[in-house]
Amino acid sequence: MVLRTKWTCELTEALDGKAVNVAGWVHSKRNLGGIRFLLLRDKTGIIQVTAIKKKLEPELFATIASLSKESVVSVSGQVKKNNQAPHGVEIIPETVTVLNPADTPLPLDVTGKVHAELDTRLDNRVVDLRRQNVTRVFIIKDALLAEFRRKCDDEGFVEVHTPKIVAAGAEGGSTLFPIAYFDREAYLAQSPQLYKQMLMGSGLDRILEIAPAWRAEKSDTIRHLSEFISIDMEMAFIESEEDVMGMLERVLAHALEHVRTSCSLQLEEMGVELPEVSIPFPRVTYSEAVELINASSETEVEWGEDLSTEAEKVLGKIMAEKGHDLYFITEYPSRIKPFYIMVNDERPEVCRAFDLEFSGMEITSGGQREHRHDVLINRMKEQGLDTSDFTFYLDAFRFGMPPHGGLGLGIERVVQIILDVKNIRETVLFPRDRSRLVP
Ligand code: 4AD
Ligand code: MG
Repeated sequence: MVLRTKWTCELTEALDGKAVNVAGWVHSKRNLGGIRFLLLRDKTGIIQVTAIKKKLEPELFATIASLSKESVVSVSGQVKKNNQAPHGVEIIPETVTVLNPADTPLPLDVTGKVHAELDTRLDNRVVDLRRQNVTRVFIIKDALLAEFRRKCDDEGFVEVHTPKIVAAGAEGGSTLFPIAYFDREAYLAQSPQLYKQMLMGSGLDRILEIAPAWRAEKSDTIRHLSEFISIDMEMAFIESEEDVMGMLERVLAHALEHVRTSCSLQLEEMGVELPEVSIPFPRVTYSEAVELINASSETEVEWGEDLSTEAEKVLGKIMAEKGHDLYFITEYPSRIKPFYIMVNDERPEVCRAFDLEFSGMEITSGGQREHRHDVLINRMKEQGLDTSDFTFYLDAFRFGMPPHGGLGLGIERVVQIILDVKNIRETVLFPRDRSRLVP
């Protein structure tokens, strides 16, 4: 028997009297004695199956009556117009095949009527994902990534895959995950930073990578994961970091606009409205940001220190009042940005790094890189790094490295913000954090 001839969303009054097979999960059941209603759910929606005791074989009626919620079934039957049924049609069953019965009790209520804590949901993620508002997050994440990738392709970026088992990190030792690599210690990649820069010496000119990145984040926050998907872009022959920022705003604004139209149904069903995005995004220098934040007297930042989460939020509020959700922070103090960022030659206290902020949260860090071998070595020494750990990287700068720059963007944070999801873990199918290693 064919398990499915129609999706539930295809069942309309036009099919009245026609034979169909539908397959899915038992969403809920209602018992009116002589009548049993079964709501069957598939990827596209829900259909009512109506079993009238007097009109059915006793065995079939008994099978329907005995089904546990979330069992997987295939139902063949006749479509019937019924104004009282959701969507105006129901199915009068002829056969019901139980493909897999579900255990009871269920770990959480798929209909969403009973609230479940995030931990319970994540512990039982497969069942949790049966709820449409949960899967919608991943449909939208997919649309955003697909369009980002497509637009980068238009802009001449070549998608690459760099090693994820690495010998050195570029984003600070404290968040490295060590792993046993035969008889040596290696690490899970924190970022493709070193490799994407090395590739700028290859002539590929513009590269894109969309891949997992790992950070041993010690603190438990709603915006940090141990494993996230990083969109990394790197481009050669730039004049300044402005070229990278311009590219990012074009690609991101385009991808967000695409999501607004292609996912309008999902967004509407989630009750979410995407913020209007227009380019260029405003630029605020780090010094201006510090002034704005300190003037608010909600929190304080000393020039030269990194912006705290609190400071970022305060700035987010100030910018929102001016009508800006997305804005760049530029001209960061040199000493708080990594060694690979180019220092401003005229004003060495600041560098060519930028962050892109979205509603008070950092979604991107990027900048122009230092491509001059000798300057790069000095910068690494200044930051207390042992350059011999980075020979494989530095060698790429000895034989012809063009000026270049790039960025890393955490896709989960973007999804978290646009869908107004409280905890970043909800934007990952199987999130990893300090305490979560399964499922
Ligand atoms: O700011 P980060 O650490 O910068 C880099 O990795 C550089 N290599 C980027 C570059 O090309 N200059 O990370 C980039 C972005 C952050 O802005 C954030 O969106 C995301 O990656 N990110 C995280 N997302 C979730 N959980 C975490 N623990 C994250 N750490 C970084
Ligand atoms: Mg950053």
